[in-house]
Amino acid sequence: MIPSRVIETKRDGGELGVEELEAFLQAYLEDRVPDYQMAAFLMATYFHGLGRAETDVLVRCMLESGAVLDLGYLDGARVDKHSTGGVGDKVSLVLAPLAAALGMYVPMMSGRGLGHTAGTLDKLEAIPGFRTALRLDEFRAILETVGCAMIGQTDEIAPLDRRLYALRDVTATVPVIPLIAASIMSKKLAEGLTGLLLDVKVGAGAFIQDEGRAVELARTMVSIGDGRGLPTVALLTAMDRPLGRAVGNAVETREAIACLRGEGPADVVELVIEEASEMLLLADAAMEQAVARERAREALSSGAALDRFARLVDAQGGDPRVVEDPSRIALAPERAVVKAVEPGTVEAVDPRVLGMGVVGLGGGRTRMDQEVDLGVGFEVDARPGQRLEPGRPLGTVYARDADGLSRGIRVLREAVRVGRSARPMPLISHRVTARDL
Ligand code: URA
Repeated sequence: MIPSRVIETKRDGGELGVEELEAFLQAYLEDRVPDYQMAAFLMATYFHGLGRAETDVLVRCMLESGAVLDLGYLDGARVDKHSTGGVGDKVSLVLAPLAAALGMYVPMMSGRGLGHTAGTLDKLEAIPGFRTALRLDEFRAILETVGCAMIGQTDEIAPLDRRLYALRDVTATVPVIPLIAASIMSKKLAEGLTGLLLDVKVGAGAFIQDEGRAVELARTMVSIGDGRGLPTVALLTAMDRPLGRAVGNAVETREAIACLRGEGPADVVELVIEEASEMLLLADAAMEQAVARERAREALSSGAALDRFARLVDAQGGDPRVVEDPSRIALAPERAVVKAVEPGTVEAVDPRVLGMGVVGLGGGRTRMDQEVDLGVGFEVDARPGQRLEPGRPLGTVYARDADGLSRGIRVLREAVRVGRSARPMPLISHRVTARDL
């Protein structure tokens, strides 16, 4: 294998042989191919993509570069959910304990916020004392006793993906469908699951804004899972507006707890129920969808999911009293309610503007090594299609100081676009399964 020839083949739109690509990736892992050659290869991939056989080689090399969890000792289905990332997406915090209450094991490995999208780990760390950096033996023990455990990606899982992702991040080569699909699926395959649900976000606040490309990503990931014996289902869900009202870290954690207490916004609750029922179907293919939905609703409304969440928080070192009193999760001290000045209809609530607004207030990162202020954020009252009269609240800004507050107010006004009509996307637009491929 000659690295420059591998790059040349991709540059000219050719397809690499299995052994050639495998040797190239292995040499990179062993530091025999430098970052500058891998960066050139990734850029060629940005323009020409990867074929199906090439994608499979990439998945296999990423997966085999690290450990695969052996969770076969657990006496039940092991099902996880992964979202491609959006604004206001706090679903995992509600879904993991709900799925555990429904009898599944949920070994959830999540990420941190980057750019305009926030991450589950930061939201969990808004709970006083909550630890997301567990050793694998602690993770296993909590999973076994509580039914779910939530941690960050460990160094042992798919190290090749970790290195490639860091390089893609700084070389503008993240948005490549086979690279995203291989990156996500290699990590999920390493979790030792029996079923996987993917939430592929589409719209202005998502990685992928175009519906056709989002369907392609969903199909690629479902087909990778299916090809490796992991039953996988993908839902395409709306990210043309934030999910729920809260956008930020602590505000979203409080909203997730509100959902578990039966007081959540309708869109978050609907998505959680739909995703929990999909997870149940992955755990038990013979179950009817209507039965699965009913069971999910019951586990949420009975408080069974809330109880699991309290046990999870306690097991991971957090203060379980947040479940009864979410105000123990601190918000930033400066607050302002922003009101409409003109009558009209809310045409759009731009999730990207709000997500970048949180970063601007210090609540997100533009680089992975940045500290975040978990208390800042927004609670948005305006929803697309809503009629506005002057004086009606658009939302609330939470900022650390007066300067942040004025910036946050400008962001909220910019995000809520007032016009004459709205055409929001359906909350769930597509369901992709192996049968559809
Ligand atoms: N998330 C991942 O884990 N990998 C990607 O490439 C994109 C999003």
